[in-house]
Amino acid sequence: MLAEHLKAAAPYLIEQKYSEYSAEQHQVWQELVRRRRPQIESHACREYLEGYQIIGLQEDRLPNLAAITAQLKPRTGWSTTAVSGFLPAQAFFEMLAARMFPTTTWLRSRDSLEYTPEPDVFHDVFGHVPMHAHRVFADFLQHYGSVCVRINDQELLEQLGRLFWYTVEFGLIRQDRAIKVYGSGVISSHRECTNVIEGGCQVRDFELEEVLRTPVRVDRIHSLLFAIESFDQLYEAMHAAEDWAEQRLLQSHRGR
Ligand SMILES: [Fe+2]
Repeated sequence: MLAEHLKAAAPYLIEQKYSEYSAEQHQVWQELVRRRRPQIESHACREYLEGYQIIGLQEDRLPNLAAITAQLKPRTGWSTTAVSGFLPAQAFFEMLAARMFPTTTWLRSRDSLEYTPEPDVFHDVFGHVPMHAHRVFADFLQHYGSVCVRINDQELLEQLGRLFWYTVEFGLIRQDRAIKVYGSGVISSHRECTNVIEGGCQVRDFELEEVLRTPVRVDRIHSLLFAIESFDQLYEAMHAAEDWAEQRLLQSHRGR
């Protein structure tokens, strides 16, 4: 799907005005990367670290989204697409289904280096985009969007949102006999990542049913997260989630 075919998302697409970033903003980016890289090098999964190299992130300047897309697109079909801010659910799913990752272009200021309530370009690009270079993860994410965009049932979408939360945002993976991180919320936050590494957070094996019934809490640091064994497992789980959602929709139609 091309950008001009997007319906719900079309009003949110913008241009990244790269030349308008200030020297101070490039320095804040540099500081953010400098703070996160040491922990990431030891505790991020292989696929994230490979993706980081592939998309060509630079430490000393903000990422140019078009340049990242030029690296990603031939590999997995994904683009890193500038949007004006937080997207309504339908617009968000529509973009994922089209392999376009909605990416904010604003950057947090120096006085909120550790945390921003709304995602910024550091969370979106440093946190999310390296994983889009991995074919299986990239296919999983597109499939997630293509399933959710067809669903109107809010309760069902909330449950599927937990799958997104506990994988794309806060996912862990067992690798090299250790727990590694791949979710953007853990990658981009020192506090959340340290919480996982230092055992402040219980880590359970990823089970789709349990993930779908585990509510999301955004008001405190995580006390429970889930570790997959492989990205193939995640890809398969999305197919199981699609079957589960279809069953639930069939049941609710019959119940009317
Ligand atoms: Fe995110």
